This record gives sequence, C-alpha cells and structure tokens, in this order.
Amino acid sequence: MQFLEQIPLASYTTFGIGGPARWFAEAQTEDDLIEAIGFARERDIPLFILGGGSNLLVSDTGFPGLVIRIALKGIDQNASQFSVAAGEDWDKFVSFAVDQNYGGIECLAGIPGSVGGTPVQNVGAYGQEVAQTVHSVRVLDLQTMRFLELSAAECGFAYRRSIFNNSQRGRYIVTRVTYEFKKDAVAVVSYADLKRYFQDKSAVPTLSEVSSAVRQIRQQKGMYIVPGDPDCRSAGSFFKNPVISRTHFAQIAANFDGFQVPNYPAENDQVKLPAAWLLDQAGFHKGFALGRAGISSKHTLALINRGGACAADIAALRDAIVAKVVEKFAIQLEPEPVWVE
Ligand code: EPU
Repeated sequence: MQFLEQIPLASYTTFGIGGPARWFAEAQTEDDLIEAIGFARERDIPLFILGGGSNLLVSDTGFPGLVIRIALKGIDQNASQFSVAAGEDWDKFVSFAVDQNYGGIECLAGIPGSVGGTPVQNVGAYGQEVAQTVHSVRVLDLQTMRFLELSAAECGFAYRRSIFNNSQRGRYIVTRVTYEFKKDAVAVVSYADLKRYFQDKSAVPTLSEVSSAVRQIRQQKGMYIVPGDPDCRSAGSFFKNPVISRTHFAQIAANFDGFQVPNYPAENDQVKLPAAWLLDQAGFHKGFALGRAGISSKHTLALINRGGACAADIAALRDAIVAKVVEKFAIQLEPEPVWVE
C-alpha cells in the first residue's frame, strides 16, 4: 500500500475544510489496516481513521500523523442479515436493503457518510437509529491487534453515542457492521415530518416510499448533499440536542409563558430540547453569517462553510453560539462533529 505525504484533507470532508495529513493511506483490506498501523507505530505518530468525512471538522493545521482512509468494500447477505464493509457508502446500502423490501433503516436514507461511521455515533434520524438493527460490529482492537466481533449490547448505544466515541474512544477500528432487518416490514412513520408528508395518503406507505420521502425532507433542510449547494457544505447537525432536567425545563418554559417551548421526553425523566430552536431564540437564524462561516438557509442547526472558510471561522461561530445559549438558557451545547487537530 502507498503512504502519501502532505495530503490536503478538505476534499475528504463534507465541510470542505481542513489542512493536510502528514501521512495518508487508503486501507482496502484488513491486512492493509494492519500494515498502516505498523507504519504509524514504527514512526510513533498518531492515527486518525477517516470514513465518509461527513461528521468531521479538520483543523487548519491538519493532522500531524497518519490518516487511514477506510476503503474496505463488500456486502455479504445471509437472508435478513447483511454484513457490510465499513467503507461502503451508507445511502447506497440503505437503497440496497430497501430495494429488497427489508425494513429497519428506511428512515435513515439520504445520510451522507460510510457504513463504518454509523455505529460510532449511533446514527439516527426520522424515528430510527442504527442501534435498533445493528446485530454485531467487527473491529480491530488496537490494544491487542486482534479482530473481534462485538455484539450490539457490547457497543453501549445511546443517543449519538457508543463505546466507540465514548468510553473506548480510540481503541477500536470498525471494519464491518452486521445489520439484522425484517423482510416485508411495515415502514416506520413516527416522526412528525414524515406523518405530515403522508397525511393525505390512505394506504400505508411502502419502505421505498418512506425512504424517498426522507430524502426529500432532508433535501428541503439542506441535509441531503446536492453538489454545488452551499447549504450542504456542513457536517449536518452541528450541535447535539441537549437533555436537561425537568426543573431546568420548567424554568425555561416559565420565561415563555403562552408560548410553547418545543420539547421531547428523554431518558431518566429528563427533557430533550431542539438545539435548532435554542439557536433561533439566541439570535442565530437561518442564513446568519459570521465571516466565511454561517448557518444554513434551510436549517438552523447546520453550520456551513459559506465559501473559503477555515476551521477557525467555524470555531468562532461555534463559540459565539455556545456563549449566547449559556447566557440565555444556562445550557452548554455540545458540538456533534468530531474535531481533528
Ligand atoms: N427547529 C427550529 N428551527 C429550524 C429547524 C428546527 O427551531 O430551523 C426546531 C423545531 O422545533 C423542530 C425541531 O427543532 O420541530 C426539530 O427539528 P428537526 O426535525 O429538523 O430535527 P433536529 O432535532 O434539528 C435531529 C437530528 C438530525 C436528524 C433529524 C431528523 C440531532 C442533533 N440531529 O435534528 O440528525 O436528521 O433530527 O430525525 O439529533 C445529524 O445528526 O447530523 C442529523 C442531521
């Protein structure tokens, strides 16, 4: 395999931002992965595993070590179980399953990125999350250099969280994900946007109707990548939706009397608020601009590269938003994308 030097990373990310990787290699097989890790260890340099680059913000100075781009390909299907290599394109895989009328990920259509990233942040949208269909995850354990098959329970899934981005961060590299679907399943239409989309239709929508509805809804929000659309130069939702206590929520609601504060029930009797709403209330509206960084004109939660932005521009906007939301609501927003520096 080839080890390239000083490769600009911006074009490998949906944000279109980022300095160079000191070293860069593409792993097409598990053996390539082992070789690349050996290369980094010999030189005692840090590793970064690059998937689809859709949830990533790379710093302007780039990455001082070896970036390994996961290019492992292949789908093995055994009845309703699909074992998919980490480098496969996620949305293509959604179509592959839906076209055979398997249900379980139809609401996750149109999400940019690769299969390997989906268990890491427990990708979720429109009423489904991958935690519901992941059967097991094949990983390389960097502590022992052995390949392991982790069960879904061992992955510790929660909202946008797993052991891979939390307690065991940096320990495992995902090489394959096995999903278990349901043949001829009834499509999930639970999210408000989807219910609205199908409200005038009397027949129950098919899996393929639901996945194309999701792609359309995402497109209206700038969350489906259309080349050339500046609202898509983003990493999707930039902040997680914060979860707060009922008491804290009551304090916020009291300041909005007569005006309904959008909210959803969360784990442990807590309340989840839409970060997009908090941003709007704090004065950061659709189309807001701060230098070359900005907010999508289609969805408040997507920070965008308005053209020629660097990571520092995005960080400045992030800091302005976080400070204002703390001041107004006493809520500390957490960015969702991974920061590489
Ligand atoms: N809202 C606004 N302004 C906006 C958009 C939304 O105030 O411009 C408020 C409204 O109250 C709305 C609520 O936010 O009802 C929820 O908005 P939306 O349905 O668009 O969902 P979201 O909470 O902004 C989450 C995920 C998305 C996922 C959608 C659909 C997070 C951080 N984001 O967004 O995931 O696609 O739901 O399920 O959980 C991602 O993680 O990158 C991502 C795009």
